[in-house]
Amino acid sequence: MNSKQKVQHPKGKLGVLTPGMGAVSTTFMAGVIATNKGLGRPIGSISQMGKIRLGKRTEDRNPNINDFVPLALMEDLVFGGWDIFYDTAYESAVNAGVLDKDLLNKLKEELSAIKPMPAVFDHQFVKNIDGENVKHSPTKMDAAKALITDILTFKKENACDRLVMIWCASTEVYTQISDVHLSVEKFEQALLENHPAIAPSMIYAYAAIKSGVAFANGAPNLTVDTPALIELANQLNVPIAGKDFKTGQTLMKTILAPGLKTRLLGVDGWFSTNILGNRDGEVLDDIDSFKTKEVSKLSVLDSVLEPEKYPELYKDMYHKVRINYYPPKGDDKESWDNIDIFGWLGYKMQIKVNFLCKDSILAAPIVLDLAVFMDLAQRANMKGIQEWLSFYFKSPQTKEGLVPIHDIFLQKVKFENTLRHLMGESLINYLGLDYYEEDN
Ligand SMILES: NC(=O)c1ccc[n+]([C@@H]2O[C@H](COP(=O)([O-])OP(=O)(O)OC[C@H]3O[C@@H](n4cnc5c(N)ncnc54)[C@H](O)[C@@H]3O)[C@@H](O)[C@H]2O)c1
Repeated sequence: MNSKQKVQHPKGKLGVLTPGMGAVSTTFMAGVIATNKGLGRPIGSISQMGKIRLGKRTEDRNPNINDFVPLALMEDLVFGGWDIFYDTAYESAVNAGVLDKDLLNKLKEELSAIKPMPAVFDHQFVKNIDGENVKHSPTKMDAAKALITDILTFKKENACDRLVMIWCASTEVYTQISDVHLSVEKFEQALLENHPAIAPSMIYAYAAIKSGVAFANGAPNLTVDTPALIELANQLNVPIAGKDFKTGQTLMKTILAPGLKTRLLGVDGWFSTNILGNRDGEVLDDIDSFKTKEVSKLSVLDSVLEPEKYPELYKDMYHKVRINYYPPKGDDKESWDNIDIFGWLGYKMQIKVNFLCKDSILAAPIVLDLAVFMDLAQRANMKGIQEWLSFYFKSPQTKEGLVPIHDIFLQKVKFENTLRHLMGESLINYLGLDYYEEDN
């Protein structure tokens, strides 16, 4: 395929707005500033460190992704956000305890200048925390209008050319699609009537889309994954993506499960448990917020292993996910996976994974990549759900009627082929046959 899509070149500054200025958001901001000052490397970021193969294997063309596609430069990023606490990005980063104080002190001036705008918050949706830096709007529509004003003001004050918004705020309680989420008209009426099924994250997403700002959802909340907001994004030519950054235990799962499946090894059970002690863990200690996370984490294995196609191997698999709040751990999450597998003649084996990870260290490069790739999508006129960015999500948003792809390696092929397509290069499926000359 060789249909080069027109991609406008980035010029000027790209503002990255994050509802939520906690551990993930501030680790991302601090990391970009540190990299720009030569104090660190953006490890884990595909946009900054990835290469892409082009053409036939024999051509040996492997440019850096950021030389191949026109992406915003890290030096051109500026940051803003909202939070229910008054802490600046510096104070919040110190409080999160992810990055060393020494490093944060070298970034103190820049991080202290990032002050959270008052949040749109509803305690009914996040029960375990409360803060005072909140807007008091008579209706949810007024709250949306106040956010639209914040967005415009930020853009003007920071002389930004473009903006993107990435949800980095707490996980909201489990919400299912209801009538008010089914069309833009019903959604707007519900905003006016303060309907209880409209979550704060939906109000941010609505405000972003109305402002022509691409929106990606890093948490498992429903948020932009509703017919109403998908319709609005399509109407207004705005890219959207979600849900739930793929880090930690689920990242490991989507690396391991495709390998087991490829070798047709059966799985009897997969028990996953975590302990973590950051604010995210505190929020997830509430059963209703945990439910949102659980649904997102559980969907992964079924989609990779396809028990309906391989009932002998996966139909009776027992899959359990537990998250336990344990304050001494802070952001240093520890997870254990016990995987009961079986092979030849049904003989049983076990795999144990003990992952000691730093959640925000894994999430920060995802925020950076989503910011620059969502901006790229916007400049390439790619509206609505950006399925090619599924690579970054636990619970990828897909067009209606489609089953999400969870296999990280298939997601990577789709991601790279989208970049090739955008730049008029041939797609690569790695299926060329060795004995044909036209091997790709
Ligand atoms: N760290 C990871 O690896 C990872 C992976 C997947 C998803 N996530 C999700 O990303 C989100 C952020 O994670 P974190 O570790 O930074 O959590 P955090 O608790 O450190 O930060 C979230 C911040 O959001 C704020 N907040 C809550 N509701 C808000 C609202 N309505 N408006 C503005 N601010 C609001 C909170 O006050 C808090 O400061 C969580 O939803 C988490 O589940 C994180």
